[in-house]
Amino acid sequence: MGSYGDYDDLTAPHVIDIRSGVSELLSSEEIERSLKAEPPSFPSLLLWNEQGLQYFERVTYAKEYYLTNCEIELLKQHSHKIASRIEPGSVIVELGSGSLRKIMILLQALEDLRKPVDYYALDLSRSELERTLQAVNPGTFQCVRCHGLLGDYDAGLEWLQRFQNASRPRVVLSLGSTLGSFTRREAAEFLGKFANALNHCVDGAVNSEPLMVIGLDGCKDGEKVWHAYNDTEDKNDEFIRNALDYAGRFLDNGVFQQHDWDRRGEWNEELGRHEQYLIPKKDIWFEGRCLKAGEKIFLVASHKYDSAERQNLWAGAGLFELKGWQTNEHQYGNFPFTYGIKSGLTVCRTLSVIYETSELIGP
Ligand SMILES: C[S@@+](CC[C@H](N)C(=O)[O-])C[C@H]1O[C@@H](n2cnc3c(N)ncnc32)[C@H](O)[C@@H]1O
Repeated sequence: MGSYGDYDDLTAPHVIDIRSGVSELLSSEEIERSLKAEPPSFPSLLLWNEQGLQYFERVTYAKEYYLTNCEIELLKQHSHKIASRIEPGSVIVELGSGSLRKIMILLQALEDLRKPVDYYALDLSRSELERTLQAVNPGTFQCVRCHGLLGDYDAGLEWLQRFQNASRPRVVLSLGSTLGSFTRREAAEFLGKFANALNHCVDGAVNSEPLMVIGLDGCKDGEKVWHAYNDTEDKNDEFIRNALDYAGRFLDNGVFQQHDWDRRGEWNEELGRHEQYLIPKKDIWFEGRCLKAGEKIFLVASHKYDSAERQNLWAGAGLFELKGWQTNEHQYGNFPFTYGIKSGLTVCRTLSVIYETSELIGP
């Protein structure tokens, strides 16, 4: 490995393939299984191909989609405080990096503090990693080296525990309320696995502080949340509907024609989450099963976390909150949905005590 700021390839950061043999995360069998289950659903991974990632980036610019602006605001205010906690020599992994718009703020803060670190953007599409990493081409930073990790979360978890990484201080980031797509129990288990991985250190890293930085949406105002996922320019609609095109690439049987399907977003007050469905406009026969006209077929949910739910999540994952920040209500007054918006950014330290998740997290 060269010195910081010294790249072998001077044209673009390197993307490392950490997938374990299987190049496609999704298979036609998995899509079939989900659609033939009772109730039927679409695997949410159908959202995240190259095209889906580009559509999602457009969603982040929708005026109603407050989440990105809130997080940018919080990062602008607090990135130097976060950066000062990160040790020189750290490996920083961002889970589901998407566009690098937000992380650039933290990387710049690390650069300002002259901290030599390695940043790894982990995501599912090689072409999108290569495209987004152009924002940090060699020369952008002197101290911060940037790389791509091509793989899913499991591959990232395994990679973090490899000797060359486990012997260095490590920081894991999950931004953009990505955790919101898990159920609350799944989110605790997911974070818990990464907390465990960070607690497992070898050699010189034993004394370092294992850190996670987590961005979660705390808005429970159903109307505001609904508008964020049902924007007037249909950016979200385009993003969600891309799942049909992607599914059609696995199962080319005419079932996933755009004109045969509607998309619907609903706020579920009881579960505190927004849900998105694809709905056949007519009866569609799929492998001997009828997907009925009007039947809501679940694709993805976005769970929102109030303060008590966040505390439950940290406890369930074995995390200790060092510092949390929230955007103020009324802060985003320049678009129609102005109040009740809260989005949190939290810096957690992992604890070696792991709680029994089932006691603390509801369904
Ligand atoms: C809601 S987007 C957030 C993107 C970005 N972090 C942000 O804040 O705008 C979720 C990201 O997680 C990635 N992702 C989803 N499932 C994944 C998986 N199983 N493994 C790795 N990345 C995944 C997606 O490709 C996408 O980039």
